[in-house]
Amino acid sequence: MDAAALQRQGYSVAALRALAQKRLPRMVFDMADGAAGDEITMRRNEAALAAIELAPKLLEGAPNRDQSVELFGVKLTSPVVIGPTGLAGLLWPHAELAAARAAARFGTIYSTSHASTSTIEEIGAATSGPKWMQVFLYKDRALTAEFAARAASAGYKALILTVDNQVTAGRDRDARNGMTFPLRWGPQSIVDFMSRPGWLMRMAETPSPTFVNYGARTSIGAFGPLMAQQLDPAVSWSDVEWLRKQWQGPLVIKGLLHPDDAREALKRGADAIVVSNHGGRQLDGAVASITALPGIVDAIGGAAPVMIDGGFRRGVDVVKALALGARAVLIGRPHLWGVACAGEEGVFWVLELFRREIDRALALGSWDSLAKLDRSIIFHANGAAR
Ligand SMILES: Cc1cc2nc3c(=O)[nH]c(=O)nc-3n(C[C@H](O)[C@H](O)[C@H](O)COP(=O)(O)O)c2cc1C
Repeated sequence: MDAAALQRQGYSVAALRALAQKRLPRMVFDMADGAAGDEITMRRNEAALAAIELAPKLLEGAPNRDQSVELFGVKLTSPVVIGPTGLAGLLWPHAELAAARAAARFGTIYSTSHASTSTIEEIGAATSGPKWMQVFLYKDRALTAEFAARAASAGYKALILTVDNQVTAGRDRDARNGMTFPLRWGPQSIVDFMSRPGWLMRMAETPSPTFVNYGARTSIGAFGPLMAQQLDPAVSWSDVEWLRKQWQGPLVIKGLLHPDDAREALKRGADAIVVSNHGGRQLDGAVASITALPGIVDAIGGAAPVMIDGGFRRGVDVVKALALGARAVLIGRPHLWGVACAGEEGVFWVLELFRREIDRALALGSWDSLAKLDRSIIFHANGAAR
């Protein structure tokens, strides 16, 4: 899809999602779009954001609007960061390299997932932009330590420890589509793949993306059993302290929803946290991230940056999170829709869409800087600010 068509047809994240759906086999689209269980938490993320009502005070003048933010000493063009998403290489050949390049060009962070289909080192070398590396605490702690050491050597700025993935999730759409590891090939999946010839032709470049960070340890078929064996429901705060000792740079803990956990994270050495329910892909029934955010911001009291993800589809969603105390927002699915439509240009466009929408919202609210976004701009039925 060329740039003009991308911008004309992909005029919003929702429009890009619809375009991606037409381009991807159902099995691949659902892998990215779906969530755990009945997908209640996934829907709740978007619904809770939609329910927040803004109450701007107008005619204060905002001719120039600055949406840049700083994270760990790095200045970003906008408060939108690309979060870690595994298996992106099923949507577009070398999707992670494309997305990392787009992020660097745009001026934001790219987060590499443990389950990327290009290696930690390849993504590290693809751009000079700031990158974060995501890891889990495995039963074999040496494997976690190895990933952290590789990220350090490859020049990653921060390590993200995702803590809401203690077991593999139950995702009904994947079960229905046979998107299991090992993959179950059958007439249904073959028809599905054949129905998307454009995708099939593109993917001929990388016919069988695998979890390359695990090297010889795994093919795509062996990954499920490896994860089942390595993910550790026994992880505890002392393991966070252990990881803190393995990694010199900023440590970000992702997947917290409780204020007590946020406080504990800082005590154990975290430098920032991401309020997240994994886009509804882990514990179905968990609170919407945006609902959990204010309590966590209050618990931490400015001691460390608080970030958030889950359901952010519009620039104005980002404005709401910043008003409730977030420093930045991570996006997962939106950048995958961009990459599925147009590779690097698609991801760049998604970042640009968010930037434009944030800028428009700032102008419409008479807010000339992100510092103006605080709880006083959130409307409550009784008229009082939170
Ligand atoms: C296809 C896909 C793969 C993901 N893989 C990972 C992962 O490997 N590690 C991780 O910490 N989070 C992973 N996530 C969760 C995202 O980092 C993020 O928390 C979530 O997508 C945010 O919600 P959103 O998609 O509504 O923006 C994944 C999400 C998706 C959609």
